Amino acid sequence: MHENKWNWGREYIIIIDGGIGFCRVCIEDELRDVAYLMTVSIVEPERRNGNGTKLVEYAKKQAKRAGAKTLSLWCAPELVEWYTRRGFSEVVRETETGMVGMSLEL
Ligand SMILES: CC(C)(COP(=O)(O)OP(=O)(O)OC[C@H]1O[C@@H](n2cnc3c(N)ncnc32)[C@H](O)[C@@H]1OP(=O)(O)O)[C@@H](O)C(=O)NCCC(=O)NCCS
Repeated sequence: MHENKWNWGREYIIIIDGGIGFCRVCIEDELRDVAYLMTVSIVEPERRNGNGTKLVEYAKKQAKRAGAKTLSLWCAPELVEWYTRRGFSEVVRETETGMVGMSLEL
């Protein structure tokens, strides 16, 4: 895992199993209770093998360890079910883009 400190807050880059997948957990200094899960990605040949789930579990642990109370994300509508199975709940849906805001209590 890499930790970056920026002028807006902190970013943790989580890389799994030699680089088959990664994601970012970002926490703004002005809103420390909320961590944002971003760019969740597993390389195509390694998908549907539990790696995405593993990555999200690492992200939850890291967000909690960093002091956040909530883990939030934006995703495309077709991923809502996937995140729901991993404990997230839909919070908001943008009418124009269809993007869905989801969150999970840590
Ligand atoms: C979304 C993404 C991260 C999911 O990663 P993944 O590694 O395929 O996720 P998992 O393997 O943990 O879960 C996928 C499904 O495969 C199933 N699965 C897990 N192991 C399996 C196996 N051995 N055989 C068959 N299916 C399996 C899981 O049950 C899951 O199904 P479910 O949602 O019905 O429970 C991945 O598809 C991806 O990188 N997509 C492109 C980028 C993207 O859209 N990212 C999201 C940004 S918000």
